[in-house]
Amino acid sequence: MPFVTTTEMFKKAYSGGYAVGAFNVNNMEIIQGIADAAAETRSPIILQVSNGARKYARHVYLMKLIEAAEAETSLPIAIHLDHGEDFEICKSCIDGGFTSVMIDGSKHSFSENIDITRKVTQYAHARGVVVEGELGRLAGIEDDVSVSDEDAGYTQPGEVEEFVTRTGVDSLAIAIGTSHGAFKFKPGQIPRLRFDILEEVARRLPGFPIVLHGASSVIKKYVDTINANGGALADAAGIPEPMLREAAKLAVCKINIDSDLRLAMTAGVRETLVKSPEEWDPRKFLLAGRENVKELVKDKILNVLGSDNKI
Ligand code: G3H
Ligand code: 13P
Ligand code: ZN
Repeated sequence: MPFVTTTEMFKKAYSGGYAVGAFNVNNMEIIQGIADAAAETRSPIILQVSNGARKYARHVYLMKLIEAAEAETSLPIAIHLDHGEDFEICKSCIDGGFTSVMIDGSKHSFSENIDITRKVTQYAHARGVVVEGELGRLAGIEDDVSVSDEDAGYTQPGEVEEFVTRTGVDSLAIAIGTSHGAFKFKPGQIPRLRFDILEEVARRLPGFPIVLHGASSVIKKYVDTINANGGALADAAGIPEPMLREAAKLAVCKINIDSDLRLAMTAGVRETLVKSPEEWDPRKFLLAGRENVKELVKDKILNVLGSDNKI
């Protein structure tokens, strides 16, 4: 099966009350761990590539590795650009074989966001590629931004219909209290998602797929392993998994996960190297990282996304 777009995936996810995981990929072990987990659970997946990933691993390597994952598993896989910041990077990924791109115009004004997003959508749709846009800004303590209600930049539901109609986007990322990275809440702060905003957006855009960025839960097991093996990640905190499960039952069809993959991989590598200081074969510690990634993704599919047995 060649790479697919997210159109069919999202239709089924919306009506089925589950979400598809969009996992950030940077190297072979991460791709293999995700693909193995999805194959065992019979789950569709989105493999997404950031600008940083493209710089690190390089476009053609990531394409070929993802092609290999598809060839080995025959899974429906969408290959997606994460946080495309301008038309040029979106064009480069569309021309380079991606089936989906995100144009992240959220840092621009509403009208500039519409203009840049519409330009990408027109180029993408003419080539059979789908587009994710974003309205609202994800705040986070890592950005040194207050996460109070006033400042958090939550999506304004009153803007979503105009944005979707004028841009022609196929899915929409919204800001309801998630944020990127492994330090999403201050110590003592109670994690909270604005389900009222999600519900209002869904009411205004019936059947339209919504995307959640910054949706790692910062799994304690991996953080503890890292810290027990020389790491320094005190105060790491993420979105509680039951909240994400709830969002997946509603209009959220795509849930983005990167930080949890990084933590799982790093925990495996650190644990192996600390337990066996004589080890100098990268295959040994990367294998442990890959196994952790597989375990993590299986758990997400079964217990958070609900996307198992959906192919
Ligand atoms: O949302 C951002 C993703 O976690 C990608 O991070 O730009 O460091 O690859 P990155
Ligand atoms: P996390 O940092 O919570 O994994 O979010 C990843 C993401 O949104 C990628 O676009
Ligand atoms: Zn993101």
